[in-house]
Amino acid sequence: MCDQNSGYSVQDISRILPSFESAIRGHASRIINEAPPDGRVGLYQFLVENHASFKSKFSRILNRDVTIELIADLSSWWAEFDLPPEFITDEELLGYPNIYFRVVRPFGYADVGGIHADKWFWELGNLQFPVGYKRIKFWAPLLQNDDEPSLTIFPGSHLQTLGYSVRLGDDGRTRPFLPNSDFEKNMLPAPVRVGQCVIFEDQLLHCGRATDSPRVSVEFTMGIRTTAGDA
Ligand SMILES: [Fe+2]
Repeated sequence: MCDQNSGYSVQDISRILPSFESAIRGHASRIINEAPPDGRVGLYQFLVENHASFKSKFSRILNRDVTIELIADLSSWWAEFDLPPEFITDEELLGYPNIYFRVVRPFGYADVGGIHADKWFWELGNLQFPVGYKRIKFWAPLLQNDDEPSLTIFPGSHLQTLGYSVRLGDDGRTRPFLPNSDFEKNMLPAPVRVGQCVIFEDQLLHCGRATDSPRVSVEFTMGIRTTAGDA
């Protein structure tokens, strides 16, 4: 699902975009205890206005019921790939797959994290992962200014082994970060529009980006069977 040299690929998800929106709508109405206004514009305005309620990761992981419904639609989408993913990970140990969204306000520089590889979180958390599978990430913008994509990536960085440092986050959890700011010049906007997703390797350096426009994105980690030659 990813290009071996760049470590990522861009795929069309326009068919399942409504499924993400209805899942987030269902989830958000339970968190806020109020139904978001109808329509895409109303939904996203509601999320941005209620940003504070969706700050912690646990408030952004879709609840079990909407997740199960969403996975039915996702499975029919990824069945079209040669080597489709077989599961979505449960890194927060909730007992069901973790699909989560993020709301970034215009100029919300505090709403995004730093440059990292997802693999570091798995190492730091000492999280178990089945043998014979590798992790790949799904990341899709549901709302963004397509002229300024809201994810940056360093193509090819998954082929390097990079050290990282650790700090304590505001939520009391340890977080990895890249101590060397030299990498910032290598970060490029991911060429992804609303209606597409980026699928990328666990070791690819990436970073969310705040722009002058609001952003809502959705992401999760998939387990894919390793083939001969894969690390
Ligand atoms: Fe990440």
